[in-house]
Amino acid sequence: MSSLRKRHALQLFDGLPDRYDRVGAVMSFGQDPRWRHALVEFIGPREGSSILDVATGTGMVAFALAARGAEVVGLDQSEAMLARARARLRRTPELADRLSFVLGEAEALPYEDGTFDALTFTYLLRYVDEPATTVRELARVVKPGGRIAMVEFGVPADRALRALWRIHTRAGLPLLGRAISRDWYDVGRFLGPSIEFFHAAEPDLPGLWRAAGIGQAQQRNLSFGAGILVTGVRNGTATG
Ligand SMILES: C[S@@+](CC[C@H](N)C(=O)[O-])C[C@H]1O[C@@H](n2cnc3c(N)ncnc32)[C@H](O)[C@@H]1O
Repeated sequence: MSSLRKRHALQLFDGLPDRYDRVGAVMSFGQDPRWRHALVEFIGPREGSSILDVATGTGMVAFALAARGAEVVGLDQSEAMLARARARLRRTPELADRLSFVLGEAEALPYEDGTFDALTFTYLLRYVDEPATTVRELARVVKPGGRIAMVEFGVPADRALRALWRIHTRAGLPLLGRAISRDWYDVGRFLGPSIEFFHAAEPDLPGLWRAAGIGQAQQRNLSFGAGILVTGVRNGTATG
């Protein structure tokens, strides 16, 4: 029996794929491409390295990693989002031999321990019931010594900026959403409270990562804290 949070996440992303890439960028103040870029730079994809991108959505991170030569699997629990990613892959045949998309859940990955050289996930943890358990599961499928990185929305620490951020998330985003569709209106209303609730519940993401077996865990604030990049390395000795 799936939880309310899980059902909400599944329903939420059913109606979004069509305009997801463009509207998503606006919702992050246009900063989200920079945040993804910082994540890809940390991972440093190489020819032939295998990378799992969890909660891949329409595959934006997965495409960026594959474009740099890596062999990438994008995994998501939403068929609708994956359909969009696969449609884009059909229009990008040069990546077809090193990029694939699979239906699956972050909480129970269909892979053996240490399958991938690296792992990425963006905007996932607000949608799972148990972030600590989920991060442990994500780390499990990475080879010892492999890099792990996530991007998430943050809340600016500076008081004045935080006040502006609240206006943007509480008034601007719902208005923007309403101008697009009923589904985006729901996202616009949901996003701000969801971000604040998540960070209040999980104030120490690097600590959570360390407890999940990920070393060198660090958090970097991006765009005055409106975005965060968390990076680390799977504990254990690299074997290859
Ligand atoms: C906000 S979108 C982000 C998509 C993509 N990572 C990006 O940066 O554009 C969140 C994605 O997480 C997926 N998702 C949420 N919970 C998940 C879970 N437990 N397992 C797998 N995917 C999940 C949703 O289906 C959705 O595609």
